[in-house]
Amino acid sequence: MSMSDRDLVREQYRTEAHLETRLSVWYPTADGRDPATEALAALVDATPDAVLEVGCGTGAFASRIVAALPEAEVIAVDQSQRLVELTASRGVTAQVADAEDLPFADDTFDAVSAMWMLYHVPDLHRGLSEMRRVLRPGGTLVAVTNGDDHLIDLRREGGGEPLVTQFSSENGEQALAEHFDDITRDDLRTQAVFHDHAAALAYLESTPEDVEWALPAFDGSRDYAGHVSVFVAR
Ligand SMILES: C[S@@+](CC[C@H](N)C(=O)[O-])C[C@H]1O[C@@H](n2cnc3c(N)ncnc32)[C@H](O)[C@@H]1O
Repeated sequence: MSMSDRDLVREQYRTEAHLETRLSVWYPTADGRDPATEALAALVDATPDAVLEVGCGTGAFASRIVAALPEAEVIAVDQSQRLVELTASRGVTAQVADAEDLPFADDTFDAVSAMWMLYHVPDLHRGLSEMRRVLRPGGTLVAVTNGDDHLIDLRREGGGEPLVTQFSSENGEQALAEHFDDITRDDLRTQAVFHDHAAALAYLESTPEDVEWALPAFDGSRDYAGHVSVFVAR
C-alpha cells in the first residue's frame, strides 16, 4: 500500500512541501476543538518527565509540548533529515530515527506521541512495540489518525475512493490492544477550507497515492469535512 511504502514515504517527506500544503487547510470542529490541542492535553495529563514525539514533521507539535511541559525532557524524531532540521530550528531536541527501530533504551519515556504517522510505518506492530518498549510501565501513548471517511466528499468528487489505512479511527483500537491494556478514542469532525479549486486539487495531489485526480472545476471556496481520532493508550 502506498501510504506505508518506505520509499514513497521517504520521497513524500524529503521536504516539507507536501506536508505544508495539507496542514494549511485545517480548521477546528464546530465547537472549537482541534485534534492537536486534545492530544497535547492528554500528554500534559500524563504529567511526564520525558516525552518522545515520533514522526514530528515540521516540529509544530513538538514545540507545543516543550511550551506546555517546560520541565520535561522532550525529544522529537522523524525519518526525514529535512524535517528533523526544521524541528531543531524551533529549539526542540530532534534526531533522525525510524519508528521501527527507536534508538532509546527500554523504559525511557513517560509519554510518546505519534501524530498522523502510524499509517506510514511499514511494519505497524513493530512500530507500536517499539513505542511500548521505550515507555515506562504505566506510560501513555497518544496517537492521532484519520477515519476512513476523512475528506470523503472531496476524494469522491476528485474521482477517488475512501482512504483506508492500516491505522485508522476504525481499526486503531484493535492494533493498539495488542500492545496496550487501556485505550480510549475521541472522535472529532474537523473542517478543511479550500479557497479555490486549485487549492483543493493541490491537496489531493500532495498525498502519496497512485490516483489520477480529476476534480471538476468549481468557483469560489469550498469546505469539506474531516474525521480525526485521538487515541490515548496505557
Ligand atoms: C503525515 S506526516 C505528520 C507530521 C506531524 N506529526 C504532523 O502532525 O504534522 C507523517 C510524518 O511521519 C514521518 N514518518 C513516516 N514514517 C516514519 C517512520 N517509519 N519513522 C519515523 N518517522 C516517520 C514522516 O517523515 C512525516 O514527518
